[in-house]
Amino acid sequence: MKARINGMTMGYDDRGAGLPIVFLHAFPLNRRMWTEQELTLSRIFRIITVDLRGHGESEGSLESFSLDQAADDVQALLDFLAIEQAVFVGLSMGGYILLALYRRHAHRIQGMVLADTKAQADTAEAKNGRVHMAETASQQGPAAIADIMIPRLLSPATIQTKKQLVDDVRTMIEATSVRVITADLTAMAQRPDSTSLLPSIACPTTIIVGELDIATPLADAALLADRIPRAQLSVISDAAHLSNLEQPLVFNKLIRSFAAQRAAKWNR
Ligand code: MLT
Repeated sequence: MKARINGMTMGYDDRGAGLPIVFLHAFPLNRRMWTEQELTLSRIFRIITVDLRGHGESEGSLESFSLDQAADDVQALLDFLAIEQAVFVGLSMGGYILLALYRRHAHRIQGMVLADTKAQADTAEAKNGRVHMAETASQQGPAAIADIMIPRLLSPATIQTKKQLVDDVRTMIEATSVRVITADLTAMAQRPDSTSLLPSIACPTTIIVGELDIATPLADAALLADRIPRAQLSVISDAAHLSNLEQPLVFNKLIRSFAAQRAAKWNR
């Protein structure tokens, strides 16, 4: 489906009924990374998956793009769908955007799942790494970004044994244009530190991390869980950064249990 919102066209899917759960994808992927969640969880909840600006089927200006703008796009989609409040799941860059959404539009958030993400801003070294990656993208194209990213996103065992999954991730990355990769990298490098926001987060929050995540490791998840009042932390075995793709059954179970508690209140 497509929505004309906030001066852009947003690709999204909206499946199922009941408590709305909105899924925000990682860099440099698109909403297809949530297929397993959408298929299973839409039997009980209303599952909305979103292509962030420039990704998948979404198109829009990337001039002065920021993660705050991505958060505003998501809130505009909520308006378009006449959804007042939803549960949100953000993985990695999707988690950075979810924290921006909380800063800007907290009243739209009924609960948050922060998966394989972190609150800290980029270090100087991480910012340099992004500049380098943007240069690689412009010189060699998205296929080179897939080569760099896949070992950071997936565990060695997944890379060795789950060819289809690896191919799907590669296809998503290769479908992302250099212009979008560069805009995301710049926006992520410029994102503010959210650590000081964490103690003021008032909505129910749960944190998920793959035990083998090297991009946003357990220590980053533990910091989120320590600082956000009453947050729960779940560590998924045999999963790296894309824990929802590597261990969909476990990931879905965690979302189902978190959302079921929110749905009980939503139905009242
Ligand atoms: C992601 O998966 O969205 C990225 O690894 C996030 C990042 O580069 O900080």
